[in-house]
Amino acid sequence: MCGIVGILGNRPVAGALVDALRRLEYRGYDSAGIATLDHGRLDRRRAEGKLVALEKRLDAEPLPGNVGIGHTRWATHGRPTESNAHPHATAKVAVVHNGIIENFRELRESLVAGGARFFSETDTEVVAHLVTREMAHGKSPVDAVAATLKQLRGAFALAFLFAGEDNLMIGARKGSPLAIGYGQGTAGKGEMYFGSDAIALAPFTDTISYLDDGDWAVLTRSSVQIFDEQDRPVERPVVKSSATAHMVDKGNHKHFMAKEIHEQPEVVGHTLAHYIDMIQEKVALPGELPFDWSKIKRLSISACGTAFYAGLVAKYWFERFAKLPVEIDIASEFRYRGAPLEAGDLAIFISQSGETADTLATLRYAREHKQHILSVVNVVTSTIARESDVVMPTLAGPEIGVASTKAFTCQLAVLACLALAAGRARGHLSEEDEQKLVHALIEVPRLMAQALTLEPEIEQLALDLAKVGDVLYLGRGTSYPLALEGALKLKEISYIHAEGYAAGELKHGPIALIDETMPVIVIAPYDRVFEKTVSNMQEVAARGGRIILVTDPKGAAEATIASTVTLTLPDMASTVTPLVYAIPVQLIAYHTAAAIGTDVDQPRNLAKSVTVE
Ligand code: AGP
Repeated sequence: MCGIVGILGNRPVAGALVDALRRLEYRGYDSAGIATLDHGRLDRRRAEGKLVALEKRLDAEPLPGNVGIGHTRWATHGRPTESNAHPHATAKVAVVHNGIIENFRELRESLVAGGARFFSETDTEVVAHLVTREMAHGKSPVDAVAATLKQLRGAFALAFLFAGEDNLMIGARKGSPLAIGYGQGTAGKGEMYFGSDAIALAPFTDTISYLDDGDWAVLTRSSVQIFDEQDRPVERPVVKSSATAHMVDKGNHKHFMAKEIHEQPEVVGHTLAHYIDMIQEKVALPGELPFDWSKIKRLSISACGTAFYAGLVAKYWFERFAKLPVEIDIASEFRYRGAPLEAGDLAIFISQSGETADTLATLRYAREHKQHILSVVNVVTSTIARESDVVMPTLAGPEIGVASTKAFTCQLAVLACLALAAGRARGHLSEEDEQKLVHALIEVPRLMAQALTLEPEIEQLALDLAKVGDVLYLGRGTSYPLALEGALKLKEISYIHAEGYAAGELKHGPIALIDETMPVIVIAPYDRVFEKTVSNMQEVAARGGRIILVTDPKGAAEATIASTVTLTLPDMASTVTPLVYAIPVQLIAYHTAAAIGTDVDQPRNLAKSVTVE
């Protein structure tokens, strides 16, 4: 995923473009660049690596101009080099792009045959040449863009500048989000903006319009024209964005991830309050569902990464509380295994960004198979949200750290409420049982706050973990998805190889890995399978393995095994352990990565949302 910004300004824009790109760096950060228009002339500055490299470049070679576009990149086509960094340009046109032009090779061949010279390996550069070619045939910039968009296949958000046109900026959206921002206040009045999301525009305005898929827009300082895919003029609502500048700064935390881990009691509480009648202590879903739970024969759940692990926890809940058979798939597998889907069943898609290409493609597959589509997303204006029959938002606020934390526990909060609502609707959950379970959920923010007090202990533990090469995570029941999530968290930000396993599987293979160099993190609240997990721990200890046990007071008392480091969480209902035990799992990964010194918020090779398949 990449980040795009455009400013049709009344003042020099280079600094403002960089500020906006800083808010977009979480989307991709292997290179960045800006282009501006000064006295009708296009010019660019681009740099490989983090945004700071571009800032250094601009300090050395300032770029004047009151109109500009900017881009921060997560490389898809072409290595993360300066020559592949956006904006791409000809003498006439500069363009920035988020997405993939699937037919770029054939387009490039026809352009080269016509004499075009390319300087990058990217698909994006083709777009600049196509618009230039259309203008060479006598089209205006607007008509040239309209003609070019019809030649492109794939997913794109684009923003264009034109030499000699300092009161014009054009943008287009197909498969990747793009918003228009309306200037406000004395400084910004009359300015217009494009941005990949509301976060990018937060420094300039909170008044925005989201383009629909297929839309393209022509901005001047005094007008906004939006056209749909058939070039018909359309209106899009002007809304107040919720992302304000303070929501995207780290406060007094060293990293966004630390801030977001600590926000969880607040944002999970906020999310629960959206789905629970706190007085009656029962689930109260906002709005009517477009399906009858009692008629759903099977539930499909699909997502990627951390969101998938949230879905895996939810499988246990739906099957336990609603007696609803659940099939769960990693999104990139679901539509290729030919799952037999019966029309009228329910498919749930979980996604923080709401833009993950694998998840979106699977949503479209489920729709083709006449499933009711319910999405649990953190960005309600996202493509996945817009293509769902019903959206259940997580109210986590913008999640900037690439490693998902608060979105994960908010997803669990929403999914728990959905499972209880399904249980009640399907007659498998009594009001009394529902009330007990809802009460347990209401306790979660307080329990999370208590779990955060383990941080100093975990910080110490992390100093040892930072020295190892491999870590094994074990869990049973709903702690098994947490073991998978813990391994993902650790590997994606510390680069330490880690694997999550069902504890019962240890003796079927992974135990061969156990020796004194391999820490084993066991997630095991004291529950009905605790004794079995203690046996697994004894198998590890017998082979010199180092155990880190995450449990509660009863578990700590029962599992007296030598060399075990024990992190003790408060007692709680077993239903809510996945939400609360996520805290130490996240802190272990965070502090280990911080001890190693990796880039916690922007780990290598990753992006916050993967909008390519
Ligand atoms: C999680 O920490 C990772 N960043 C990644 O696995 C992520 O969960 C996955 O890419 C799905 O993203 P989404 O929730 O935005 O769809």
